[in-house]
Amino acid sequence: MLNIGHRGAAGEAPENTLASFLLAIKQGATAIELDVHVSADGEIVVCHDATIDRTTDSRGAIADLTVEQLKQADAGRWFNKAFTNERIPLLGEVFDAMPVDFPINVEIKSNKHPQVVQKLIALMQNKARTNSVIVSSFGYEVLYALKRAEPEIRIGLLYDKPIDYRALAEWNKVKLYSLHPHYKLVNHDYAKDVIAQGYMLYPWTIDNEVRMKELIENQVSGIITNFPGRLNQLLVAS
Ligand code: G3P
Ligand code: CA
Repeated sequence: MLNIGHRGAAGEAPENTLASFLLAIKQGATAIELDVHVSADGEIVVCHDATIDRTTDSRGAIADLTVEQLKQADAGRWFNKAFTNERIPLLGEVFDAMPVDFPINVEIKSNKHPQVVQKLIALMQNKARTNSVIVSSFGYEVLYALKRAEPEIRIGLLYDKPIDYRALAEWNKVKLYSLHPHYKLVNHDYAKDVIAQGYMLYPWTIDNEVRMKELIENQVSGIITNFPGRLNQLLVAS
């Protein structure tokens, strides 16, 4: 079962920064989840929101800012002054900071679909990351565009309402690698059914220990959490 650090260890470090990813690994995460957008100069940058207003000391839409401008923003101090000088990372920088086979769940947030598809494939191939990345999104169009362009890529669908994943697979003629439901959609029977259909099952975002224990008992494939240290303790004890 993967212990997937959500935006790194976002409960204890500024989300989607290298400090957060490295802390997650230190605490026992066996994978990390992060979010990506495309900058004005076409680079894939790691940030949850479409703007940098909430998670840095600067303002503006990522789509309107160059990497040089984005790198001027402090992405750590807002969380805690101990993290002052953390920067918004490029996805390539995160790839370089982790062992090449370390699992990374890249969630596409950008609406620049054609551009993000081409850039992401090129970056994953260039960094030999095709086999260690799962690309997820709430939008299946971008996932299927990726899969059609590069069949080796593993894609996972995010959702927060019930979906008919069998119909989706038949309709699109492309099988998802993984399903990423909101945790409230998952119970014992649901997990059993999804896994019997051959999907990985990665519910999000679970920080509560009681709920973590239930999902461990339900044998999901991984748990996405802001507190990978907390989950690690439960997995070690189970
Ligand atoms: O990947 C699961 C989760 O990250 C989806 O929601 O808003 O945290 O990106 P959000
Ligand atoms: Ca996310």
